[in-house]
Amino acid sequence: MSKVCINIAWPYSNGAIHLGHLAGSLLPPDIFSRYNRLLGNEVLMVGGSDQHGTPITVSAEKCGMTPEAYADKFHEINKKAIEDMGIEYSLYNKTHCPVHDEVVQGIFLDLLDKGYIYTKETNQYYCPKCSRFLPDRYVEGVCPKCGMEKTRSDQCDACGTTFEPGDLLKPYCTLCGSEPEVRPTEHFFLKLSAFREQLIELISGKDYLRSNVKAFTKNWLDDGLYDRAITRDMSWGVPIPIEGWEDKVIYVWFEAVIGYLSASVEYSRMIGKPDYWESFWKDPEVRHYYFIGKDNIPFHSIIWPAILMGMGGMTQYHDIPANEYLMIGGGKFSKSRGGAIDVPTVLQKYDADVVRYYLSAIMPDTHDSEFSWEDFQVKVNNELVANIGNYYHRCLSFTRKNFGTIPMADDGEGSAEVVAAIESALADYNDCLSRCDFKKGVKVVMDLAHFGNRYFDSVKPWALVKSDRDQCGRVLNNNLRIVKALAMMAWPFMPRSSETIWGYLGYDGTIEGAGLASVLEPLPEGQELREPLPVYKKVEIEMEDNKAEQQQKQEKKDKPKEAQPAAPAGPFAMFRRMDLRVGTVVSVEDHPDAEKLFVLKVDCDEGEPRQLVTNLKWRYTAEEMMGRRLIVISNLKPAKFRGVQSMGMLTAADDENMGGDTVHLLAPSCDIPNGTRFDCGVEGTSSRIETKHVEQVVMKTVHVVDGKAMGVEMPEGSPSVVIAVIDGDDVMILGDGKGCYATIDGDIQDGANVL
Ligand code: MF3
Ligand code: ZN
Repeated sequence: MSKVCINIAWPYSNGAIHLGHLAGSLLPPDIFSRYNRLLGNEVLMVGGSDQHGTPITVSAEKCGMTPEAYADKFHEINKKAIEDMGIEYSLYNKTHCPVHDEVVQGIFLDLLDKGYIYTKETNQYYCPKCSRFLPDRYVEGVCPKCGMEKTRSDQCDACGTTFEPGDLLKPYCTLCGSEPEVRPTEHFFLKLSAFREQLIELISGKDYLRSNVKAFTKNWLDDGLYDRAITRDMSWGVPIPIEGWEDKVIYVWFEAVIGYLSASVEYSRMIGKPDYWESFWKDPEVRHYYFIGKDNIPFHSIIWPAILMGMGGMTQYHDIPANEYLMIGGGKFSKSRGGAIDVPTVLQKYDADVVRYYLSAIMPDTHDSEFSWEDFQVKVNNELVANIGNYYHRCLSFTRKNFGTIPMADDGEGSAEVVAAIESALADYNDCLSRCDFKKGVKVVMDLAHFGNRYFDSVKPWALVKSDRDQCGRVLNNNLRIVKALAMMAWPFMPRSSETIWGYLGYDGTIEGAGLASVLEPLPEGQELREPLPVYKKVEIEMEDNKAEQQQKQEKKDKPKEAQPAAPAGPFAMFRRMDLRVGTVVSVEDHPDAEKLFVLKVDCDEGEPRQLVTNLKWRYTAEEMMGRRLIVISNLKPAKFRGVQSMGMLTAADDENMGGDTVHLLAPSCDIPNGTRFDCGVEGTSSRIETKHVEQVVMKTVHVVDGKAMGVEMPEGSPSVVIAVIDGDDVMILGDGKGCYATIDGDIQDGANVL
């Protein structure tokens, strides 16, 4: 038995949690915790409501409530929703509570004492009318550079300029509309820079981390490790435990992550073993997991580890299985979307296990996934009900009707096939669940149920019961072995219905009590079966369930420019949203603020050359870059790299996924004008897209062998390495659709990822 510490991102108590929270960060840890409990591991699972921060004070003010009453209201709603979903925390805590204050303040003073926290004066907007300092997004004005109106006070989305307080023209407070002043104010800073070496050390060797976690963390380590202000000018939050600082509080992100520890402490006191938490947090052998959404990565892979390092002797993360986003109608889930997507409403209509099944089946673990009620209906009815639910019921009801108890086992050849099927499913299942690959894990369970159904059909118990009753009993015993294995393996995903099946099999204890180790143990012959009812029922979605999707789709129609561009339907939909253009590098400069970055100007025949920032400085010299021909994603949302705007992204082949370490920039294989579109000759769109869309396009390197690349006929004289664009079974070779292809300036293995 080992100990596992499962930490779950704290949802803001600023509204009811919705399906996006469940799929993103709340359900995966519960599956993982239950899996560990099935293995007999001791699990501490903590998290709770994130109750501080400006957005909560603003929402509370709008409803005429105090921040505390407002945050507690949603804490209670969400705590109940989580319990109703069958998600079992050791403690679902909240950040506005005495033990949290105590632990946060203790750490604050400890780090201050050690010199990891220090004070510094900064300038900040202050609204005299509201009598408060204003965080960045509460001040808007006109961009001094490009004249854009309604620009946020920290950065102009139109031209990318970043601002210091005071830079913005005609600033106004977004809360009351009056003009803010710039006032000096003193804050505490966390000396993140002091932990750089240790943080690099911590992540090195963790090859199993998800690629999003590696990428975000590496970016910060390369680029963003500057000291951060960890206090704010406001009154809602954890007080700074030093005299004279009463008008400021500790920054919500600094204290929320400490919640993992304070909740562990609080839980230990609750169970009357005040030191219990130490056996999880001070033992380096205990594995710590953090289940979060991808927007939370640096806080868990940099800031929190740095705080723990500052404290010393604390257990660091083993894994951070960060999920991507669940989307609805092509957009992000959010409470403002309305519709029946918040957990309390969904649970009024559907069974928790049914929702858990669907969210497990579409879990956004490696890329964004799309939620839809139609798909919900299809997957629930065709898989959950028609496959596993049906199998449970036909086995249990037929056996009970004809035998009443568990019939005698088949000790001969007959069961070998069944045992082998369970064993092999179990091996795959363990492999998936131990890696937190839950989407595949639930599929393994469904596949075993498919096997069960086929087996039941092939042994025809309905005929055997008339011709050979003993043999009938033996094959039913085999079927019940599969039922038992299914109930155990499905338990982490669908706990309540699995327990019900367990009861129908005649067991009195719990599945957890029995433990996964007993999955292949023969069933107790003669054990009385209980009268079964179908555990899953078909669902029929109602029109209003579609409201959120419809609303999203309608919004997209209403403002086609700002919202997510409509994806072209049909194969290669994502590829067709990318606007790839040929360009030539016309200037190369070092980034003024980041050693590892180049700032390029690339001529894509648009009048002005485009500015692009690249981190390929380790790979290409300035001379190698200059004059180079490239293929650029030109419609990517502009991004900033240490204050320098990048209008798009270079495409390159990277064989890291194949275990290599080479990167090659893509280039056109022939002399073709700048600005040529590489769309493979299929119609595409050019509206703005985001990296997350690009990440869904599958492009890989392939060699041309015998005039073919992945089955596609290539003309004479085509390059030896080309890029296959893959969508399911369909393949296109990247090029302009008129005989010019994308290639690389060297050799690389087949299957290297391109982007
Ligand atoms: N409240 C944050 C969010 O919803 C998550 C905080 S997780 C924490 O994005 F533990 F780090 F606080
Ligand atoms: Zn601007």
